[in-house]
Amino acid sequence: MSNDVLLSQGNEKAKQIRNLFTNIAPYYDLLNHLFSINIDKRWRRFTAQKLVDVLNKPQARALDVCCGTADLSLELGKHAPTIGVDFCHQMLVIGKKKVKNHPIVLLEADALNLPFADKSFEAISCAFGLRNLADFNLGLKEFYRIIKPGGRVAILEFSQPVIPIFRELFLFYFNNILPLIGGAISGSSVAYSYLPASVAKFPDQKGLVKMMENVGYKNVNYFNLTGGIAALHLGDKA
Ligand SMILES: C[S@@+](CC[C@H](N)C(=O)[O-])C[C@H]1O[C@@H](n2cnc3c(N)ncnc32)[C@H](O)[C@@H]1O
Repeated sequence: MSNDVLLSQGNEKAKQIRNLFTNIAPYYDLLNHLFSINIDKRWRRFTAQKLVDVLNKPQARALDVCCGTADLSLELGKHAPTIGVDFCHQMLVIGKKKVKNHPIVLLEADALNLPFADKSFEAISCAFGLRNLADFNLGLKEFYRIIKPGGRVAILEFSQPVIPIFRELFLFYFNNILPLIGGAISGSSVAYSYLPASVAKFPDQKGLVKMMENVGYKNVNYFNLTGGIAALHLGDKA
């Protein structure tokens, strides 16, 4: 399976993405923490902190879309009851073991067709998930639909490093070394070459701000994390 096929649009892309995560699920956490030397944990903690004020409202609930193995759901669960959704059963099997004894429920569902009524959640997060959807804009609209007025979305994604030289060094590592190691450990070279290819096709920091504003989010802003390797975008629903 080539990257071009993986990056094709529509249902076919969804199926291929689900297969890809089914294959790498047993290695996903290990490789995440290894490749980022555990910095990814800090990024998720930071994301949850930026939602604390909306999650402190009475009866507030959080939804973690594309929750995977539930690392961000666990951070959100420290502040409010949380539902995590993902369409990859194998990722959820691993996540379910981790969320035992936490106020967190994990469900199998499609991010583009979420099984929740309009205006259901104070906070919605999506970490390293939006980039994988067949239609980013549709995803942002679906999140907007189920956020309560006064609520907030947090999109944590890989982005474009902004520091010269560091940017070039990082991109060399990300495009050339990471796919080799990821492929060797997980046995899926497609998955770890899809990663940089999909980031290259995802909007940069300012592009994502524009996309979120067009959907209707207010006060959209972002934080570059680790020099812009990742970025956290926040947007409110008026
Ligand atoms: C890179 S992982 C991120 C997992 C987790 N949020 C994290 O921070 O580690 C992307 C996840 O998005 C899920 N995903 C991709 N497209 C989806 C869709 N349309 N609906 C639900 N989940 C989806 C995949 O199954 C995968 O678990």
